[in-house]
Amino acid sequence: MQILKAENISRVYGRRKNSKQYMALRSISFEVCEGEFIGVMGQSGSGKTTLLNILGSIDKPTAGRFFMGDKDITALNKKQLAKHRMENIGFIFQDYNLLETMTLKENIILPLALSGHKPKDMEEKVREIAENMGITKVMEKYPYEVSGGEQQRAAACRALITNPRIILADEPTGNLDSKSGKDLLELLSYINEEYKATILMVTHDVFAASYCQKIMFIRDGEIYNELYSGDNKKEFFDSIIDVMSVLGGE
Ligand SMILES: Nc1ncnc2c1ncn2[C@@H]1O[C@H](COP(=O)(O)OP(=O)(O)OP(=O)(O)O)[C@@H](O)[C@H]1O
Ligand SMILES: [Mg+2]
Repeated sequence: MQILKAENISRVYGRRKNSKQYMALRSISFEVCEGEFIGVMGQSGSGKTTLLNILGSIDKPTAGRFFMGDKDITALNKKQLAKHRMENIGFIFQDYNLLETMTLKENIILPLALSGHKPKDMEEKVREIAENMGITKVMEKYPYEVSGGEQQRAAACRALITNPRIILADEPTGNLDSKSGKDLLELLSYINEEYKATILMVTHDVFAASYCQKIMFIRDGEIYNELYSGDNKKEFFDSIIDVMSVLGGE
């Protein structure tokens, strides 16, 4: 079942009068099915974060529309958008974006508290998700008191606690060592398989990408290519490297 549909999405940065306008996305169209784990790859500056921010309603497209289910998200007003984002979107950022003045537990509970859940329900949900992610022991600590991997897992908990329909992750393993990175990828795979969560993950890392079922390659704000993972992981890995080397960059 289709969960997201993007129609000719463009994003132009800079003011119209200004000659320094830049077209970061050029009429991108694609569809995402429920339960898909999609990788988004491409050179630095190709438009990956721009795309994710638009899909997560952090930013608005200059032109084009996108739908989640049969709802036209681009037609929502500010208040509706805030509600939509709260209920349907889980964001995981490269630099975690945890609030430094709150404990991990408070950070994780925040989206539930904002949407007015009962304290007892929240406690239960937080306990369950923290256990799943293996951060029960550090829940009362502040972000600066725990490791990067623990911060990222807390950020993942915060993104997942509302059972969002779609999880958007922008280089979630970018700041992690290989062990923590692998843990996070396994976790995303688990959430994808167990809860049928739909995930879009931007990554530069071929190893991270090999966890996905499909890779969307972006070049200069356009979709350049799509690759599907078959039964043969090694083949998928190699074809990702092939496309990456054609695209150039890192
Ligand atoms: N707020 C902004 N104002 C003007 N130009 C911007 C802005 N944000 C991004 N850009 C430009 O748009 C293009 C796409 O940026 P974007 O952040 O989406 O790239 P990216 O693919 O995420 O790159 P990276 O891999 O380095 O994170 C870049 O050329 C960038 O300089
Ligand atoms: Mg980016």
